[in-house]
This record gives sequence, structure tokens and C-alpha cells, in this order.
Amino acid sequence: MLWWRRTAPDRADQAEVDRLVESWSRVCESIGLTDDRDTVTGVTHVVPRIEHVTLGGRCAEHATEERTCGCAPAPTVLSVRLVPGMLVEDIRDKGRRIARSMGAQSLRVEARGFTHALVTLLTEDPLDRVLSLPEGPLTGPVLIGTDEQGQDLTAGPADLGHLAVQGATGSGKSAFLYALLSQLAARDGVTVTGVDPSGILLRPFQGSLLGLSDPEIIADHVHRLVVEMDQRIKRIPRDRDCLPESEGLRFLVFEEYPGLLRYLDAADPKIGKRVRALVARLLAEGRKAGLRVILVAQRAEAAVIGSTERGQCSTRVSFRVDGPDAVKLLHPDADPDTAAAHASSVPGVALVSSPGRPLTRVRAPWIGGYSEYVRRISDAA
Ligand SMILES: Nc1ncnc2c1ncn2[C@@H]1O[C@H](COP(=O)(O)OP(=O)(O)OP(=O)(O)O)[C@@H](O)[C@H]1O
Ligand SMILES: [Mg+2]
Repeated sequence: MLWWRRTAPDRADQAEVDRLVESWSRVCESIGLTDDRDTVTGVTHVVPRIEHVTLGGRCAEHATEERTCGCAPAPTVLSVRLVPGMLVEDIRDKGRRIARSMGAQSLRVEARGFTHALVTLLTEDPLDRVLSLPEGPLTGPVLIGTDEQGQDLTAGPADLGHLAVQGATGSGKSAFLYALLSQLAARDGVTVTGVDPSGILLRPFQGSLLGLSDPEIIADHVHRLVVEMDQRIKRIPRDRDCLPESEGLRFLVFEEYPGLLRYLDAADPKIGKRVRALVARLLAEGRKAGLRVILVAQRAEAAVIGSTERGQCSTRVSFRVDGPDAVKLLHPDADPDTAAAHASSVPGVALVSSPGRPLTRVRAPWIGGYSEYVRRISDAA
């Protein structure tokens, strides 16, 4: 028997419960979220069963018929019994498609023991709000963002690996990097440098190459980063395969990397080729030398961040880009709905591929603008 709860149940409520159960079953069948059993009459598709419905729409606490209390309306919550072999992650992975079929914006899916999931139908995008990043801990993992389930997506500085960040103009790349670099700079033993054609992002970091100068100077600067990498590799102890953490972790940022290469190619294609080869070495060998590369682009063009570079960047972040094809450049596993919907994301909302996690939609942290970024970096120095 299906249970549902709300004060003063009426026919309209019953009809709504029936509609939810019906659309749940239909969408689960159509996306293959089923336990398929061979029977004498053929294959039967068993969907995860809704066992309880708490209808939303009214204030959860006061449960008044009229919304007079001023509280936010409560969302509808389904209690679902998983079919054998199914995980809550299986529902989460298909959350966007299920939500849309059930008239919701997105789903929050929480485990209830090993056999049940609590599925909340969210009518508003949970990422549609600013995530302020207070001055946080000086040790431990850094915050990449908060996901649709309200969970923090974090990574230890060393575990970030190389990063690729893309997004159209105004989509939130710089704001994300302000938050990320200020968290990194606050940690002992972590340093940041790189090449920044516009000269704004890396201005607070001494030793960075700012602005588009003589192409030879840019190539020599990147060459020096590779020489530094080679020296660090030589310092790897004989009984280890990577530089100990005590030698420090160094992040090398290439802001607007495709634009940088275009500039170099236009000046002298040989210099462009040389810089590509140097960055390829940093990506291929930097990890064991305690170096992490961050490639930033408005669009991670395949000619610049091809499948090799994509594979080497274990953390890949896409803010709003112009369409599903651009999403696929960094996240080939993105399903068509997610990739298409991302074209209209608000600034600060990103898709993130990171080690050991399926593609995750997150709200990136906001530290409060450029002057706050400069202050945090100078405080960390
Ligand atoms: N995480 C966020 N939270 C709240 N607001 C944000 C966030 N990220 C970006 N914004 C808003 O969007 C604006 C543009 O963001 P940002 O400067 O980071 O874009 P961008 O991708 O670096 O653009 P460009 O390619 O032109 O440099 C910010 O000034 C801010 O108002
Ligand atoms: Mg920017």
C-alpha cells in the first residue's frame, strides 16, 4: 500500500499522488532505471517503488491550507525502495531527466539505509544562490563548489591534479580562480605562478609573466618553468617516484591559453609550436615534480586542449559555454540534456569532472570580488 501524508487529504491530493507515481514509473522505464527480470511471459521491467509521498506546496511546519505564515513552501518528497543492485547514485545520475518528467527543476537524492532513497522534487534550482566563501581553514582540502545535493565538492591541493577551466565571457572563470587560488595560496608550501595575457588574474603573484610581451620572452618564461620542473625531477629521492610534499606544490596557471597560443602563432608559428611542446611536457611530467598546471580558456578548443591534454587534466571545470559541443570538449561523458541545459547556466554554476566522481553540477564559491582576492593573496604571502 502507498502511504502519503498531508493534513486534510482531499481528492486533488490523491490525484497528485497518482500523477507522481505514474510519471515516476514512466520515466524510470524510459531511462532504464529498472530491474529487468526474465519471466515465462518475457522480460518484466521492475521500477523502484514509491512507498511514501509527502506532498509539498505548503509550509512544512504549519501545514496550513492557505499560505499565510510566510514560510517557504515545502517540496514534495518521495520515499523510494530501490530495486536489487541499484544505488542512490543511479537515481542521481539521471536526476535531471527524472526531475523534468515530474515537473520539477532538479532532484535531491539521499540514501536511507541500503534499501531506500529519499527523493526531494526541487522546484527551484538549488544552485541559484551565491555561495560565499569565508576565509577558511589554512590546511586540508580546498572547496571547488557545492553540488545540487548540498554536498561540498572538495579536493586536497595535491589531489586536484592538472586543471582545465573553460567558460564564455562573464560565466565565472575568474571568480572561481580567485576563490581557488586564494585557498591554495593560504596553504603552507603551495605557490602559484604562470602566464597571464591580461595581467589581472596573476598580478598578485610575484614572478608571473603578465601581459602579452615579446613572443620570445613568453617562450623563454615557459622554458624556465620546464627547466625548474627538470631540476625538481632530479631531486626526487632514489626510493620514490615523485617529489616529497615537503618540497612544496607549485601551480602554474596559463590564463586564456588558446588566446596566448593564437598570439604566438600569429607572431611566429615556430614560437607557438615551441610553447605547445613545453606545456605538453609540463602536463606529462609535472605531476611527479609537484607541479600542477591550470589551463584556462573561454572554449577548450580541441586544437589546444585535445584528448591527450583532457586526459592529463584530472579536474575539468566548465562554466556556461555556447552549447553542448563545447561541454563535450571537457566532459565527453555529459548526457545530452545536461550539456544542453548548461548553455543557459548563470555565472558561477559549473560542471565538474573530477577523479572518482561522476560529472557533478556545482555552484562555485564567491569570495567577494577582485579587491578581496588581492587582499587574501597579500595576507597569505
Ligand atoms: N561564483 C559566483 N557567485 C556569484 N557571482 C558570480 C560568480 N561567478 C561569477 N559571478 C558574477 O559574474 C561576473 C563575471 O564573472 P567572471 O569575471 O568570473 O567571468 P569570466 O568567466 O572570468 O569572464 P571573462 O572571460 O570575460 O574574463 C562576476 O563579476 C560576478 O558578478
Ligand atoms: Mg575572467
